[in-house]
Amino acid sequence: MRILLFTGKGGVGKSTVAAGTAALSAAAGRRTLVLSTDAAHSLADAFGAPVGAEPTEVADRLFVQQVDAQLRFEQSWAEIQGYLLSVLDVAGVDPVAAEELTVIPGAEEVLALLELRLHALSGEWDVVVVDCAPTAETLRLLALPEALGWYMQRVLPTQRRVVKAFKPVLTRAAGVPMPGDGLFDAVERLHAELDEVHTLLSGPDASVRLVLTPEAVVLAEARRSYTSLSLFGYRVDGVVANRVFPAEGADDWRAGWVVAQDAVLAEVDQSFAGLPVWRSEYRPSEPVGVDALRTLAAEVYAGADPLAVPTGSGPFRVERTGSGAVLHLSLPFVTRAEVGLARNGDELVVTVGSYRRLLTLPAGLARLRVAGARVDEGELRVRFADPAHEDATEKVT
Ligand SMILES: Nc1ncnc2c1ncn2[C@@H]1O[C@H](COP(=O)(O)OP(=O)(O)OP(=O)(O)O)[C@@H](O)[C@H]1O
Ligand SMILES: [Mg+2]
Repeated sequence: MRILLFTGKGGVGKSTVAAGTAALSAAAGRRTLVLSTDAAHSLADAFGAPVGAEPTEVADRLFVQQVDAQLRFEQSWAEIQGYLLSVLDVAGVDPVAAEELTVIPGAEEVLALLELRLHALSGEWDVVVVDCAPTAETLRLLALPEALGWYMQRVLPTQRRVVKAFKPVLTRAAGVPMPGDGLFDAVERLHAELDEVHTLLSGPDASVRLVLTPEAVVLAEARRSYTSLSLFGYRVDGVVANRVFPAEGADDWRAGWVVAQDAVLAEVDQSFAGLPVWRSEYRPSEPVGVDALRTLAAEVYAGADPLAVPTGSGPFRVERTGSGAVLHLSLPFVTRAEVGLARNGDELVVTVGSYRRLLTLPAGLARLRVAGARVDEGELRVRFADPAHEDATEKVT
C-alpha cells in the first residue's frame, strides 16, 4: 500500500493537492483513499461533496474519508484520561482545569492517524493519501512511541507488577487511586498502535510531500519541516509550489508578483536540490470537484508518476566500514553546531533546536563506541568504532 502524506503551512493548498493526487491515482486505476485528519471539513469542500467518517466513494475507485478524530480520541484515550482525572481530582484540581490538563495538544490528530493502521491491515487500498494538519508537529508526535520505547519495555511491566502487589496498601495510605490492569492495557495498546503507524509512515512505501506557496515565510517553514521530518525518519520525496502566478499578459501589479515569486522559486529549487519541485499555477477560480482537482494534479506532475516509490535509502542509513560503521541521518539545512548528540546505552539522542529524537541503535551498532560526528552535505554522520569498553552514558560534542 503506497502512502502519500501532504503537509505544509496553513492555507497553502495541502487539501487541494492531496485530493488532486488521489483523483489522479484513481484515474490511473488504483483503488485510492484520501483521508483528512483535521476537524475542518476541507476535503468535503475540495470535492464539493458530502464526506463522512467512513470512506465515501466520490468517483470510480476514489474514496474520501474525514476521520472522526473525536471518536478515535474517545476510543483510545478515554480510559487513560479517566484515570488521570481521578488522580487530579484527589489532588484537588478543579475538574474543568483537570479536563484541560489531560488533553495533549495535537493528540487528536495523532490518534486520527491510527486509522491508517486499520486501512493497511484491511488490504483494501492500493494508495492512501493523507491530508495532514499544518506543520509537521503531528508527525513528530508519532515518534513518541519510539521515545517511550525504553520505558514501555522495561519500566511499565515492573510498575504493573508493583502496583498490583501494593495496590490495596497504597490506595489506603496515599488516597490516590491506583491504576488497574485496564489502564496498563490501554497504555500498552496505544503505544503499540502508534508504533505501528510510525513504522508504516517511515517505511519504504510511504513518503511526505511539502506543499508551499512562493513566499519567503512559507519557504522558511517548509525548510524547517524538511529538517524535522528527516530527523524523525520520514522520507520527503517532493515539493509542490502552489499558486504560482502565470507570467503571460500580466499587468503591473501581477508582474510585480511574478518577479517576487520567481526569486523565491529560485530559492525553493536551491533549498530542495535533489528533490522534484513541482509547480501549480494560481488558477482563476478555486479548483473544486473531482475533474478540476485531477486536472490540477495532472498539470502539477506533468507526466511524472505521482505514485513512484522513492528510491534511495531514506533519511537513515548505516554503512559498514571495516571494523566499525558510519550512521547517516539526513538533516537538511543544519550545521554541526546546531546538532546535539549523546549516547545513552543502545540509544543515540539527536537534538536539533527544540527537536529531540531517541534513535534506537541497530544491534550491530549498539556494541560499538561513538568515535566522532560531523555534518556534511545535509547529513549527520556518526562514526562508530570497535570499543575496548565504555560507559553507559557518553557525551559526544
Ligand atoms: N492553484 C490554486 N489556484 C487557485 N486556488 C487554489 C489553488 N490551490 C488552492 N486553492 C484554493 O485555496 C484555498 C485553500 O486551499 P486548501 O484548502 O487546499 O489549503 P490547505 O493548505 O489545505 O488549507 P488548511 O491549512 O486550512 O487545511 C481553497 O479555497 C482552494 O480551492
Ligand atoms: Mg486543508
